[in-house]
Amino acid sequence: MNPAFIVTKEHRRFNEFANAVRKERTIGICHGDAGVGKTLSARRYANWDDLEPYITEWGPRGDQDEKHYTLANRSRTVFYTPDVLCRPKTLMEDIHRYQVRIGSCIDEHLHKLDTAPRSMNRVTTLVELLIIDEAERLNATALELLRDNHDRTHLPMILIGMPGIDQRFRHYPQLYSGSSQK
Ligand SMILES: Nc1ncnc2c1ncn2[C@@H]1O[C@H](COP(=O)(O)OP(=O)(O)O)[C@@H](O)[C@H]1O
Ligand SMILES: [Mg+2]
Repeated sequence: MNPAFIVTKEHRRFNEFANAVRKERTIGICHGDAGVGKTLSARRYANWDDLEPYITEWGPRGDQDEKHYTLANRSRTVFYTPDVLCRPKTLMEDIHRYQVRIGSCIDEHLHKLDTAPRSMNRVTTLVELLIIDEAERLNATALELLRDNHDRTHLPMILIGMPGIDQRFRHYPQLYSGSSQK
């Protein structure tokens, strides 16, 4: 956990927003000027400073496993930052991989003593929120794929971006810009 992180009013608002999106199983847009703390708030919500390095180094397990399983179970969130020139196919593959990995960590936490083999599809359903930062990098195809994925799986999703991003989404009736970060 980042020791310099301050629990600001904005951060509390982000948490409330994320919890609402999750509860309503919808798509939320979080927009605000650069530097207001959107990325840090979202990473904190997802425990991403701890979980990102852990799931990136997906290899032999160490004595840190339990701690990370607990963190994944607590947040049940995947945080993803697309590349500047992200390809839609890569985006969806990356997100699926993160879902499998975070889902597996949650599953480990929930079924510590259960040795039965787990299905990959089942563990992905343990993830309850997908947060995509720098969403202005996504092109129309990427957005369509994400929306289609949401329609099929009902996985709640937050798209974070700069002011104006809500305008790009006005043709998506399911999206709302309920809580911007000021
Ligand atoms: N809650 C916070 N606690 C401590 N520092 C923060 C916090 N929120 C933002 N900052 C500072 O502001 C900078 C910009 O935050 P960031 O989350 O990257 O903004 P945004 O994503 O909205 O552009 C961070 O690098 C950090 O120095
Ligand atoms: Mg940011």
